Amino acid sequence: MKHQMFLLILAESFIKEQLIPTPKECKMKKGVFLSFEGIDGCGKTTQIMNLEDYLKKKDVPVITAREPGGTALGGGIRRMLKYPEETYKLLNERYKNNKDFVLLPVEQLRTFESEIFLFLAARAEFVNYIVEPNLNKGVSVIADRFADSTRAYQGGGIAKSNPRIIELINKNHDFILKRYWPDKTFFLDINYEVSKHRLGLINAGNDDFEKRKKDFFEGIIREYHNIAKENPKRVVVINGTKSIDDIFNNDILPYVNSIYGF
Ligand code: ADP
Ligand code: TYD
Repeated sequence: MKHQMFLLILAESFIKEQLIPTPKECKMKKGVFLSFEGIDGCGKTTQIMNLEDYLKKKDVPVITAREPGGTALGGGIRRMLKYPEETYKLLNERYKNNKDFVLLPVEQLRTFESEIFLFLAARAEFVNYIVEPNLNKGVSVIADRFADSTRAYQGGGIAKSNPRIIELINKNHDFILKRYWPDKTFFLDINYEVSKHRLGLINAGNDDFEKRKKDFFEGIIREYHNIAKENPKRVVVINGTKSIDDIFNNDILPYVNSIYGF
C-alpha cells in the first residue's frame, strides 16, 4: 500500500513537471507580438527593419510579416482586393468553357461591406497560420499593419468612424484574433501633407478627388487616435515627423527593452 502511494505521488509530480512549465520557461517559450501602424509613408517599414536587425543581434528569434503573409486563401483574397479587375479577367479566361462558371462582370465594384469582411477573412488566415504558430514556438512576430488598419482605413477613412461600423469591426476582431492582439502597437503619427510629401505625390491639384483623399486620410488618422485612447496600454503614439533615429532610440527601444528584459 505504502509502495503504491509512493508511486502515485511520484507519478503525479512527474505529470505536473511535464505539463506545467515554470514561469521562466513560459516567458522564453512564447514569442512577442508587435505591430506597426499609421498612414502610408509614416515610416513603418523603416522602423521595422531597424527593429528586426536589433532583435536579431540580441539573438531573439523574430520574423517580420505583413498580411497575408504567404497564406493561401489570405493571399488569394488580398490579390482580389488589390487587383480586382486583373484577377476577375484571369478567372474569366481560365474558366470560360466551364459549365459551372458564370462570367464575372470585371468592372463591377465591390461593396464596402464585402471589403471589410475580405480584410477580416485574410486576417483570420494570417492569425492562424502565421501569428499563432510562430508565437507558440517562441518566435516573435513584427506585423507591418494588423487589425488596427481595418478599423482605421475602413472604419475611420471610409465609414467616417460610424459607431455601428466601428463596433462591428471590433466584435469581428475579437472573434478572429482570439487572444492574439499585439503585445505592443507602435502608431507612427504623421499628417496627410507629410505622407504626400514623403511618397513624392505632391501635385497642385485641389479638385474633388484630392479633397476626398485628404478627408479620407484625416478620417484614418482620427480613428487611429480613437484606438490609442481606448487601448492606452497596448498602443504607443509616436510623433512620426521626428528623425528616424530619434523615433527608434527614444520611442520604440525603451518599450522593446522593457518587454524583453534587456
Ligand atoms: P511606410 O512603410 O509606413 O509606408 P516607409 O518606412 O517606407 O513608410 O517610409 C516612407 C518614406 O519616408 C521613405 O522614403 C523613408 O525613407 C522616409 N521616412 C521614414 N521615416 C522617416 C522619418 N522619420 N523622417 C523622414 N523621412 C522618413
Ligand atoms: P498593402 O498591399 O498591404 O501594401 P502596399 O500597398 O504598401 O504594398 O496595402 C496597403 C494598403 O491597404 C494601405 O493603403 C492600407 C490598406 N489597408 C486597408 O485599407 N485595410 C486593412 O485592413 C489593411 C491591412 C490595409
